[in-house]
Amino acid sequence: MNRAITYRNGLVAFLAVSVVFVPVYLQGQATAARRSPVAPRAAEVKAAVDEAYEKFKSDTGGKNADYIPVLAKVDPKLFGIAVVTADNQSYLKGDVTHSFSIQSISKVFTLALAMNELGADTVFDKIGSEATGRPFNSVNAVVDMPTHTGNPLVNAGAIAAASLISGSSEDEKWNRILGFYSKAAGENLKLLDDVYKSEAATNQGNRALAALLVKYDRIYGDPVQSVDLYTKQCSVGVNAKELATMGAMLANDGLSPVTGQRVIKSENIPYILAAMSTAGLYDSSGGWAWHVGLPAKSGVGGGIIAIVPGKGAIAVFAPPLDEAGNSVKAQKVITYVAQKLNYNLFSPHSVGVGLSGPTGGGE
Ligand code: DON
Repeated sequence: MNRAITYRNGLVAFLAVSVVFVPVYLQGQATAARRSPVAPRAAEVKAAVDEAYEKFKSDTGGKNADYIPVLAKVDPKLFGIAVVTADNQSYLKGDVTHSFSIQSISKVFTLALAMNELGADTVFDKIGSEATGRPFNSVNAVVDMPTHTGNPLVNAGAIAAASLISGSSEDEKWNRILGFYSKAAGENLKLLDDVYKSEAATNQGNRALAALLVKYDRIYGDPVQSVDLYTKQCSVGVNAKELATMGAMLANDGLSPVTGQRVIKSENIPYILAAMSTAGLYDSSGGWAWHVGLPAKSGVGGGIIAIVPGKGAIAVFAPPLDEAGNSVKAQKVITYVAQKLNYNLFSPHSVGVGLSGPTGGGE
C-alpha cells in the first residue's frame, strides 16, 4: 500500500468534492469545514441515498410503536433520508422536514451534556458502559447488573444521566437540555406536547426503573423529576435533516458544521461513539456492529442516526419498528448506504485501504 498515493488520491477526491458539491447543494459554509480526505464524493452519496430510497420505500415491515398511544397514529408511510457531512453539505430525500419525536436518540445528547458538565470519568463511574444484552426497558438488568444503571443509552442509565444535569429547578434543567439539543441541531428545537402528554400518561415502567435506582443509590436527583426530564427529552421534535446535523456535529469532533460552535468537548466524542457502538440499537447492537460497523442510535419515534467519524452522519426517519424498537426501513437504508460508501469503521476500506477508485484512493 502506497500511503502517499492514497493520500494524494484522497486529496484529489476532497478537492473534487469541494468544487462539485458546494455549488450543487449550496449548503457549505466556511465555518468548521473539515472533512476526511477519504470521504466519498457528493455524486456517490447522492446515488447511494437515491438508490436506497427507491429500494426500500415500499417496504412495509415493522409496526409503529404503540405503547406511547400517540405514536401509533403517525403515518407509517413517512420516509425521509438525510445525510449531512462534517463540512456542512447535505443531501436530503423524502419526508425530511416532518417533525417526529427524537425519543431514545436524545439519550446520546443528554449523555454528552452530562459529560460536558462532569467529565467522562465521573459519568462512567456513576452510570457504567456495559451493554445489557436485554431489552431497553429491562427491570431484570437493573437488578442483576453490578452497575444497575447498565449504560447511558438504556432507559435506566438514561434516566440517571438526566438526573446528573445541573440546574436549581426542573425548569432550569429542562431549559439546559433543550438549549443543548438546539445548539447541536443548529436550530431551535421544541417539545412535541402531544407526545410528551401521551408518554407521561403511560410511563409507569420508567418510573419503576427510577424508583429501583433509588434503592441502589444510582440516581442523582429526585426520581420523579428525573423521569419527567427524561420523558420531555424523548418528546423533543426533530426532522431528519436536524437529526443528521446533530450527528454530523458528533462526526466533526463536537463542532457544529452549521454554526462552527463547539457543542461537545472533543475528548468526550470517542466515549459517546463507543456507547453508541455497543448499545445504540439495544439488543441488536451486536448484529448492527457486525453488519454495518457504525455508531448509531435509534428511537421509537422511527428515527435512527449513524455517525461516520470525520465524514458526516446519516439520519433516517420511517416509523415502523422491529421487535427491539428500531426502525425497520432506517436500518435497511443505513446498511445499504454504509456498504455502498465504504463507511464501515471496522473495514480498512473506510480509510481507503484495499480500495481502488475515487472513494478511497487506490494503489
Ligand atoms: O423510554 C421510553 O420508552 C421512550 N421514551 C424512549 C424509548 C426509545 O426510543 C427506545 N428506542 N428505540
